[in-house]
Amino acid sequence: MYALIGGSGFTSNDVVTDREEIEMTTPYGAPSAPLVFGRLGGTPIVFLRRHGVNHQFAPHRVPARANLWALKQAGVEGVIAVATVGGIAADMGPGGIALPDQLIDYTWGREATYYDTPEAGVKHVDMTHPFDRTLSAGLAAAAARIGRTVRTGGVYAATQGPRLETAAEVERYRRDGADMIGMTVYPECALARELGLAYAPVCVSVNHAAGIGTSNEGIDFESLKDTVAEAVVSVVDIAKAFV
Ligand code: HPA
Repeated sequence: MYALIGGSGFTSNDVVTDREEIEMTTPYGAPSAPLVFGRLGGTPIVFLRRHGVNHQFAPHRVPARANLWALKQAGVEGVIAVATVGGIAADMGPGGIALPDQLIDYTWGREATYYDTPEAGVKHVDMTHPFDRTLSAGLAAAAARIGRTVRTGGVYAATQGPRLETAAEVERYRRDGADMIGMTVYPECALARELGLAYAPVCVSVNHAAGIGTSNEGIDFESLKDTVAEAVVSVVDIAKAFV
């Protein structure tokens, strides 16, 4: 069974049918929302809304350790993580969908490991390839089957937020090799790796990153809701085709 983590743009649990909500607790507190056990296009799935049912957790406050721990407890084999991004690469304008294969972490102060006490010990997980390549390839194949264009590969820059970036910051991330910017895939991917869970992000561009193209005049995040909603439909179709 797979888990689907839904980010901004998932305004309800409706993507899943035959829903049963289960409140979980973990050694790291409660996850951001009850886990929703149900079906995605007929296949059993666990759905979790990353920012909470009232979208109350800002990116840097998402209880990622509890979220991944709860999904592991639920017995999932892999996590499909939907995340909105600002596009840097030319093909990542609003509406663009990507299955990135690399990540650069620019966040700070987040609880990004389960190995941070003497009791837990020390472990250095391999992150050469931060996302599960088999799962990403499966999602790419599913997208192709239903005729959706997705960018396969690319570098995801994880920023702290919740504020958006300055144009100079985006230019720096571009020079570093980033193709898209988001705020949530890290530390989820690292925590999933520590737990031995396959994890693959599906990124949906909702804006050009700051300073790029039309975003040179600024970004009104609130006005992007329609773009987000449309893009999410496409992503759910891909996830459905995959599972
Ligand atoms: N920057 C960071 N995160 C984002 C953006 C952005 O421009 N758009 C959506 N998530």
